[in-house]
Amino acid sequence: MAILVAADFGIDDWDAWWPHLQAALPCETLVRAPHAVPAGEIDIALVANPPLGSLQGLSNLRLIQSLWAGVDRLLADVTVPPGVPLARMVDPQMNDAMAQTAAWAVLSLQRGFFEYAAQQRRSVWAPRPWRRADEFTVAVLGLGQMGRAAAQRLAALGHPVLGWQRHDAVAAVSGIECSAGEAALESVLARADAVINLLPLTDATRGVFAARTFAQMRRGASLVNLARGAHVVEADLLAALDRGHLDRAVLDVFATEPLPTGHPFWSHPAVTVLPHVAAPTDARSAAPIAARNVFALRSGAPLQHLVDRTRGY
Ligand code: NAP
Ligand code: GLV
Repeated sequence: MAILVAADFGIDDWDAWWPHLQAALPCETLVRAPHAVPAGEIDIALVANPPLGSLQGLSNLRLIQSLWAGVDRLLADVTVPPGVPLARMVDPQMNDAMAQTAAWAVLSLQRGFFEYAAQQRRSVWAPRPWRRADEFTVAVLGLGQMGRAAAQRLAALGHPVLGWQRHDAVAAVSGIECSAGEAALESVLARADAVINLLPLTDATRGVFAARTFAQMRRGASLVNLARGAHVVEADLLAALDRGHLDRAVLDVFATEPLPTGHPFWSHPAVTVLPHVAAPTDARSAAPIAARNVFALRSGAPLQHLVDRTRGY
């Protein structure tokens, strides 16, 4: 049997991934194109934003292993076979990278470093008032792999951290004030100086940041979106920034990526743009993790990190 690697990689990405996949799966036949072997011989697909239709007609497919953590695009692709187990990437290195990005964003907001960068461009020397970490409350929406790592890092930096998730039953995170469910969201938003979005993109969370939720946020608070662009209604965010209700948005993800030339976020003085780099997948750690599920499938052991397609994450 063979493993299809289906990805929207450029040449550099293939060069980065291929040696690590081969090293992690030395006894497997890896192919990049479905027609490289008869379709019936492919029983596993390793995927990263696979081109539309890549997995169609693979009648013996038994595992789809995503190389990305978020699977919203895969779940939205009607050509991905619905009955095949789908596993997502869960990599402690990515969680750590996400915690670093969250810490950088919050520290920059708390200490005014984004404003100092803008002041430098205008040759302005003007120290600003600042708050201590314990005076700057952070809300982390989504306490999964990434959210927990971010919340714990921020608590260790001395911030009061409010965590919000879907289920009450999920284990508490030490040092974090946790709450769950829609009814709790308003008070979480109202108490935070910075709100970090680390929710998965599902039917329930699409557009969660809109005029209504921005109005629930404290005046002068900031939004840090590190999850998916479609969580945010961009026009509502711009309106909240323009009328001064929100202080700043730090955005790593966008409805359309790359962010189109001329998009108002590029030049807005209260928006910081990152090119979807908050927690990049690292082939060095991710290839061996993907390989573990291949070994599990081959040996009949349980597959790890399966996605619940009904709930959407
Ligand atoms: P995850 O492990 O699946 O965690 C999901 C968390 O969100 C869980 O705490 C879950 O609560 C909560 N949640 C789900 N639906 C909810 C709802 N309707 N209301 C309240 N809470 C809800 O996800 P992850 O791996 O941490 O990924 C988080 C996000 O980061 C995803 O959007 C992913 O696509 C994105 N991401 C971005 C980058 C980047 O570079 N920017 C990199 C990787 C991932 P329960 O536990 O109670 O179910
Ligand atoms: C990146 O956004 C990922 O989902 O891994």
